Amino acid sequence: MTFTVAIDGPAAAGKGTISKAVAAHFGFAHLDTGLLYRAVGRRTLDGVEPLLAATTLTAEDLDASDLRSPQVAQAASKVAAIGDVRTALVDFQRAFARRAGGAVLDGRDIGTVICPDANAKLYVTASAEVRAQRRFAELAAKGQADELATVLADVKERDARDANRADAPMKAAEDATILDTSDLSIEGAIAQAIAVIEARR
Ligand code: CDP
Repeated sequence: MTFTVAIDGPAAAGKGTISKAVAAHFGFAHLDTGLLYRAVGRRTLDGVEPLLAATTLTAEDLDASDLRSPQVAQAASKVAAIGDVRTALVDFQRAFARRAGGAVLDGRDIGTVICPDANAKLYVTASAEVRAQRRFAELAAKGQADELATVLADVKERDARDANRADAPMKAAEDATILDTSDLSIEGAIAQAIAVIEARR
């Protein structure tokens, strides 16, 4: 059985938390596609050319300890605007989506480009201020304290770049269910996501 869940949305919207919980609930595999772009961006910070970084990506690159840092997030958003880089990552994502037993993929273009035929599509969002506050708390918990204003600026800059690029811009698929988590608890957001997917099964 294949069953694909596409979860897209802007920076720090809670896609990762919701995707992990949904995957655990249904027994599906989970792919955080942002990690692929972060790993490519990480390699460019070491001087590797973006397309070479994307075409020679290895499993070890996904283990780099600083992939969640704001610096790597910015580098990811820059390489993600390069069409050839995106193309190099398509097959892996589509193969993952088709794995037996079901798959949840989260990113920016899963419901629109990678898996337009996904069985269930969610677009998870929240106000930029709420998202920045959540990312700020996440970074602070890891001892990577940044100013809240800096985190907000990072989130807004990436959103603008991700939404305005020519190739696979971040946007909700027409048939996606919008889940605004600004006023929802984590548990509430997860429950709503599960209900949307349950209805498609
Ligand atoms: O965790 P957060 O929402 O901050 O970011 P992420 O999902 O790890 O994605 C990092 C960057 O990768 C984004 O800002 C996008 O530029 C890019 N990305 C993308 O273009 N397409 C995807 N399917 C996933 C991520």
